[in-house]
This record gives sequence, structure tokens and C-alpha cells, in this order.
Amino acid sequence: MGLPPLALYIHWPFCAKKCPYCDYNSYAVGWHAKEAALWAKAYIRALETLVRDYPHHRLDTVFFGGGTPSQMPLSVLESLLSAIHDVFPARADAVEMTLEANPRDISKGLLQSYYDLGINRISLGVQSFDDDELMFLGRDHNAKVARDALDAVTTVFDRYSIDLMYGLPHHTTALWQGRLEEALSLGTRHLSLYQLTIEPETGFYRPFQRGDYKLPENSVLADLFNTTHELCADRGLVGYEISSFAVSGQECRHNLHYWHYNSYFGIGPGSHGRVHHNGQTHALASMKNPAAWREGILNERIGVVEKIPLTPSEAALERLYMGLRLREGLNRSVFQDLQNGGHIDLAAYQALCAQGLMAEGGETVFLTEKGRLRLDGVVVDLLKA
Ligand SMILES: C[S@@+](CC[C@H](N)C(=O)[O-])C[C@H]1O[C@@H](n2cnc3c(N)ncnc32)[C@H](O)[C@@H]1O
Ligand code: SF4
Repeated sequence: MGLPPLALYIHWPFCAKKCPYCDYNSYAVGWHAKEAALWAKAYIRALETLVRDYPHHRLDTVFFGGGTPSQMPLSVLESLLSAIHDVFPARADAVEMTLEANPRDISKGLLQSYYDLGINRISLGVQSFDDDELMFLGRDHNAKVARDALDAVTTVFDRYSIDLMYGLPHHTTALWQGRLEEALSLGTRHLSLYQLTIEPETGFYRPFQRGDYKLPENSVLADLFNTTHELCADRGLVGYEISSFAVSGQECRHNLHYWHYNSYFGIGPGSHGRVHHNGQTHALASMKNPAAWREGILNERIGVVEKIPLTPSEAALERLYMGLRLREGLNRSVFQDLQNGGHIDLAAYQALCAQGLMAEGGETVFLTEKGRLRLDGVVVDLLKA
């Protein structure tokens, strides 16, 4: 049997500015150019430590996320990619290597450098092609910058995705439909479409709490979700996951590893990982503060990366939650294993099928369109208390 596949997530926590909706581990503080070598050393050491603790994987995907990885110094990216090739000898083009980029950072020259270093997929954080919406979202680019960045990406890369947000306060179905039509007309073959959520401790939290802005009613949000899936399907982009749409073959292989609950390493401040190891699942969690993480890794301090063994029911919940995000759902044998392990409430499952929220077919068990609107509630119902 071959080695199990591994996805590698690398978190770069710095951004040019902090967006008011964002609760990712990202900071609008610069790194100093003279510290680039230290960052590179810390990432490489974090990687080598995980490879030592959890050997025997075949690297399948790498994802540079953030934060804003397009703000990562090229010297750090280059050293890290070279270390990745050293510890995981594989044909470079066999590994999917995605980098998240912000439109403001993009130039053809930078994209060519990424390509030359082995990056073969770009995820572009467009968010909207409308100037007013971009202003509301506190972004540092306008629609023209987004279009120009997308143009540049398409000249260098075959595989790319754009992120857009919907469910903004003024969004009606007709307005969002127009926005989505416009994005689809640009020929993108992968879209990540996220409904705006208001998270505690973000810039948006208080204004929304105060009622300065209101999210669309739940019935409108459901309509926006359904319209999104229908319109994309109409243009050949299947909603293969709750927020992800692709022409066949363009799916993000890296994210599929998360949803299939395969092993993945996370390196960088605040990154997470999951590793299936000796019959157990370990959750990896790294210290969030960038400076503390870097110093901790470089000085080999204990506790910078926690490795927490999950109980079988914790792992079952995660496997179920991740798998049911996918249109294809969970493999029937995986569902059966969860059932045999005593994690699934069979009566609840039958009731969910009878209500038209879940179904089975072929080799899988999945959420119906109606069920996908209620993922969290369905998972809670399914799990044995
Ligand atoms: C890790 S973030 C950052 C990527 C990149 N730094 C950027 O901003 O373009 C990935 C995506 O999550 C989405 N996102 C972040 N916070 C969100 C929120 N509160 N509601 C909905 N989508 C959100 C955005 O579309 C963003 O592009
Ligand atoms: S959305 Fe992206 S650019 Fe904005 S703060 Fe979050 S990670 Fe940074």
C-alpha cells in the first residue's frame, strides 16, 4: 500500500490592513525585511518537527493561506518551498500548490515569480466587483484593481479561484444574481462564495449589534444560497461543497482533503492540523501570536504547537461535519463505521431522511438541497447524545 496523502497548510498572518469582517488570525502589522530569514527558519523548523513526529506521508497539496500570503517576502516563500521539496521528494508538478493573493499586491511579474517557484494555483480575494461594496467591506482595492488582478492571474495560471462575499446588508436576490452573473461572465472555473457572517471581536460586530446595519432576513439568505447554487450549476460550476463551485476537474484538491478528513499539517501562527496516527486522530494547534510563535519555534519551547488526541466521538463529529459539507456527502462505508461505533442516532437519521433533509444513493449518504441550508442542526440531530 502507498503512503497516505498529506495536505500542508502554511499560515502567513500579516495583512496590509485588517478588514472589519475578518476574524482570521491576521494582523495589520508589518514584518521587518531584515527578519525575513528568521521567519523562513521558523517555518522550516515547524515543518521539519511535524515531519519527524508524523513521518511516512505522501505530500499531495500545499496551501499558502492567511492573512495575506501575497505579502510574504519571496525569499521566505522560496526557502520554504525548497525545504518542502527536500522533506517530501515528489515531482513538483504532481503537488497542487495554491497561494492566496490579494488584488492590491498582484502584478504579472510577481505572479510569474510564483509560477517559477512552483505555485500552480492562485486563490484571489476579490470579495466584490462593486466599488461601494468593497468600500463597505473595508478593502484596500477597488473593482478595477480586482479586474486587472484577475486578468493578470489568467495570463499566468490555468488553475485559479476567486473569493466573493454575498448576503451583504443591501443584497436582494436580484442584486446578488446580477453580481454573480457578472463574475461568471469572466470565465472563472472555480469560485468560493461566502455568506457574510458577523463575528465577535471584529470591526463589524458593534455596528451590527447596534443596528447600524442589518443582514438580510433569513428567508432572503436562504434564497441567496439557493440562487447561488442554481446559477452556478446553470453555467457548469457545480456547488461541490457548501461554498465552493467548480467546473469538473477544477476543484480545490487541498480543501477536499479537509472535507474527506484526511491528514493535514498546519504550520504558522494560529494554524491547525489533523493527523491520523497509530489509530488515533491528533488535533494540532499552534500559538496564535506571530512573534511568540516564531520565538517559540526557534527556541524549541514546549507547547508552541499543541498535539491533542481526539476522543473517537470528537473525531466522529468532525468527520461527519466535514463530509456532509460536500455535495457527494460521506462514503457509505464511513457512515456505516460511524454507525457501528455507536456515534450515529439511527432513528434521527431515518427522521432526517423522512423530512427530506438527508438521502442516500450510490455509495454515499448526503444532505439534500434543503438539508444543506441546515448543516449544523442536522449534524447535532444525527450524533448520539
Ligand atoms: C482567509 S480569508 C483571506 C484571504 C485573503 N487575505 C483576502 O482577504 O482576500 C479567505 C476568505 O474568507 C472570506 N471571509 C473572511 N471572513 C469572512 C466573514 N466574516 N464572512 C464571510 N466570508 C469571510 C473572504 O472571502 C476571504 O477571501
Ligand atoms: S480578509 Fe484577508 S486581507 Fe482582510 S484581514 Fe482577513 S485575512 Fe487579511
